Formats: sequence, structure tokens, C-alpha cells
Amino acid sequence: EKGGYDYFMLKEIAEQPKAVADTLLGRIDGSGSLTLDEVRIPPGVLREIDKVVIVACGTAFHAGMIAKYAIEHWTRLPCEVELASEFRYRDPILDAQTLVIAISQSGETMDTLMALRHAREQGSKVLAICNTNGSTIPRESDAVLYTHAGPEVAVASTKAFLTQLVACYLVALYLGQVRGTKWGDEIRAVIRDLSSIAGAVEQVLGTMEPVRELARSLASKKTVLFLGRHVGYPVALEGALKLKELAYMHAEGFAAGELKHGPIALIEEDLPVVVVVPSPRGRSVLHDKIVSNIQEIRARGARTIVIAEEGDEAVVPYADHLVRIPVTPTLLQPMVATVPLQVFACELATARGNEVDQPRNLAKSVTVE
Ligand code: F6R
Repeated sequence: EKGGYDYFMLKEIAEQPKAVADTLLGRIDGSGSLTLDEVRIPPGVLREIDKVVIVACGTAFHAGMIAKYAIEHWTRLPCEVELASEFRYRDPILDAQTLVIAISQSGETMDTLMALRHAREQGSKVLAICNTNGSTIPRESDAVLYTHAGPEVAVASTKAFLTQLVACYLVALYLGQVRGTKWGDEIRAVIRDLSSIAGAVEQVLGTMEPVRELARSLASKKTVLFLGRHVGYPVALEGALKLKELAYMHAEGFAAGELKHGPIALIEEDLPVVVVVPSPRGRSVLHDKIVSNIQEIRARGARTIVIAEEGDEAVVPYADHLVRIPVTPTLLQPMVATVPLQVFACELATARGNEVDQPRNLAKSVTVE
């Protein structure tokens, strides 16, 4: 069943272009607008929404963090994102004008389920983004947008994550479409970009051999740090999470702007630091700031592993290792920037002799608190 791959995780990483295309399938019509028939929350209700709250755990939470940038940018609705396990134990402000989005691959995560039950008790509408048909979370939600990633067997989430991102972008654009906010050329352009994203993911997958080699060379390291800004920050967190769960290494993700507020003290000679670089086009301020972050950490001896867009020459002098990703719009960059981090973690786990599909102490769905 592993289709010729040594591990399910490798198979699932390779399946990502198809998974992404499947999640988009049938949801964009010929005129370039969205037809999310499954979202059974009436447009009238969606027009009244004044806040979005996203709840999720682990990798799904990282998808939610990225969704926040997209939702706020495209709809101008305030969006909060919170770990389900934290959300349910405080006293969150929820009402009928709040749209709650619960993201879960398995649809069975207890904390996420409890969070959505709490939200519904407060009168909020809940939309599930889920990969498992008929699981508990979608059954208990007002509506569900399925990610059509196919079964994900490896404990570490890969293709589910990329399809969760696609679903989040679709929801954000759909909210924009229904509410009429900022609906126009920009959003139509994003829909076109989304349609070509599967090809971009495929392209990244074709260039991963140097990343594997690099991972093997780092097998005896104790720590790897990950830095990012904007949507690259959740990507950094996801890269660190993958490395913890698979390679059992100490890994941490930071917002690059926080370096000076503490984490830079961790930088020492030869410490591998992965940096996710935003596109130099678009929000070029962010790009320039991260280039100076790379300079700063390299001056302190870090071994810099830089993930940057093709054609970004500014990073070249400061990159000990350079991983190129295709040019994508800023908000969609996590779709391509995450892939090298998945491959990196998987290869490091193998090099360290770990069980890739069944990491120690972890379960595929966490049905206890
Ligand atoms: C990480 C991972 C976990 C899950 C988390 C949520 O690779 O697999 O962090 O993402 O347990 O699971 P779901 O999405 O099933 O709610």
C-alpha cells in the first residue's frame, strides 16, 4: 500500500500536488468564482458575521495561523486563532455573529471537538475543515468543507496540512465573495494562482535531493532553529514541529522579529538555523528585514539554511545552504515553503534510525485530552 515508497510519509509528501488539486476540484467555476455548495451556512448569515475564530491543534493549528493572514487581508474581518486546548478553558467571547472554524485532519481530536461544542452552545456557527468523511467534528458542525487529501496514514501530517491551507484560502475567498469585501481583481487573481499551486508544489518536490543530503549531514546535531515572518512564521513553527516529532530533536520556531528579544542568545557556532524568506516582491519590507536577520545570525556563527524564492539574489551571500522555491504570491508561499521542511524532517528521522510513520509516544488521532 505504500506504493513503492519506504514509508507512508514519503508517499503522502509525494501525493501533495494531487491532494491539493483534488481539494480545489469542483470548487471554482468557469467564471473564476467559488461554488462552495457544502458550506450550508446561508450567505445572509455569513454577511452578518463580525469575527472569525479558528480553533485547532498541532499542525492544523499552524494552518489556522496562516488562514488568519488570508482571512483578515481578503475579508477585513478580525480573525483570532487559538489552540483548542487553551480556547475551551478560558471564557472566549462568542456569539451568533462569530464564525468558528474548526480545523482537523482526523475529525476526532477531543480538544477541537470540545471547543466547537462550546462555541455552538454560545450560539456561534461552526464550519469544520476536515479530511475524514463522517467523523465526529464535521457531524457536530453546522457545515463542513472537506479537504480531499485522501487517507493520511503517517502520524506526521503532511498532505493534510497543505489541503487544509487550500481549504482555508477557499473559505477566506468565499467570505470575501459573499460579503463583497475587496471582491474583485485581486481575489480573482488569487483564484488563478491557487489553480497553479499544485504545479508549484510538484516543482518543489522535484528539487529535494540536496535537502535530503543536507538533512543527513545534520543527523548528529542536537538543535535546529527555524525563523520566519508573516505567513513564514507559522511555516517555521511547522518545520520545528515536524523535526521534534520525527527526528526527536530539539527544534524551535521563532518569529524573526523576535530574535533580538531573546532567541538570538541561542545562536552559537555551527548551529543550524532554517530561515523562511518572504518574497522580495510585494511586501519587500519584510524581505529586507529578514535578510538583515540572516546577516545577524550568520555573523554569530549560525549555519544558515535559507528557503527563498527563485531569483531572490539578496540572500545568496548569507546562505550556507540555499533551497529555492517557486515564485508565489505572499499569502500562498506556505504551500511551497513547507514542503522542504517536511522532506528535511523525514530524512533526518531516517538518518537517525527513527520509525518515520509511527514516531514514539504519538498517536494519529488524539481522542483524549
Ligand atoms: C503533526 C500532527 C499533529 C496533528 C494534531 C491535530 O504532524 O499530526 O500535530 O496535527 O494532533 O490533529 P487533527 O488534525 O486530526 O485534529
